[in-house]
Amino acid sequence: MSIEQQKELAARAAVNYIEEGMIVGIGTGSTVNYFIEALADLPYDIAGAVASSKATAEKLKACGIEVFDPNAVGDILLYVDGADEVNQHRYMIKGGGGALSGEKIIAGMAKEFICIVNEAKMVDVLGEFPLAVEVLPMARSYVARQIVKLGGDPMIREGFTSDHGNLILDIYNLRILDPQAMEQEINQIPGVVTNGIFAQRRADFILVGTDTEVKRIQA
Ligand code: 5RP
Repeated sequence: MSIEQQKELAARAAVNYIEEGMIVGIGTGSTVNYFIEALADLPYDIAGAVASSKATAEKLKACGIEVFDPNAVGDILLYVDGADEVNQHRYMIKGGGGALSGEKIIAGMAKEFICIVNEAKMVDVLGEFPLAVEVLPMARSYVARQIVKLGGDPMIREGFTSDHGNLILDIYNLRILDPQAMEQEINQIPGVVTNGIFAQRRADFILVGTDTEVKRIQA
C-alpha cells in the first residue's frame, strides 16, 4: 500500500468519530484533505467546521462544508489533524505545512484531538523532521541565534509567509528528548509566535494507517 493510501485509510477511520450536527476542528495537510473528502461523503450533515488555515477553509468550502470563525464558536468537541512525526507518548511535531499557529489554537479549543498519520510518521525520538518555528519578521535573526544556542540549525523557509504574515524557521538537527520542556523553552524566546512541538496539547489518540489496518494508539 502506498503512503497516500495509508493516509487515506487513517483519515477515513477518523470519520467514525464524527456525529451529526457537530462542529469539527480541522487541521491542515494532505492527510486532512482525505479526511475532509470523507466528511463530505457522510450520509448525515455536520453543523460545520473550524479551519486551522486558509487552505483548509478553501478545501472545506469546496466540499460544501460551512466554515465558522474560531471566535464565533465556543470550545469544540473534536479536532482532527495530521502530523510530521509522532512518538508513542502522542507527542508530535507539526508545521510542515506552516499552519502550526492555527493548528495549535484549534487543538487547544477542542475537548479531544485525533491525530491521523501513515505509519512512517511514528518515531522513537522527535526531531529528525525539521521543527517549524513561526516568528515575527523583525525577530527572525534574533530567534535564529537563540535556537543555535539550543543546539539546532535554523533555516529560513524561503518564499513562505504564514497565514498570519509571519516567517517560518525550520530547525534541523534537534533531538527532542523532552518535548514538553523544549516546546516551552522555544515559545519563551521573544518574537516566537509558536513552535511545532505539540506536547502540552498532545493528541488524545493516534490513528495510524498501515498496509493492513488502522492502529489506534492511546494512553
Ligand atoms: C501542517 C501540518 C501537517 O499536519 C503535517 O505537515 C502533515 O502533513 P501531511 O498530512 O501532508 O503529511 O502540521 O502544518
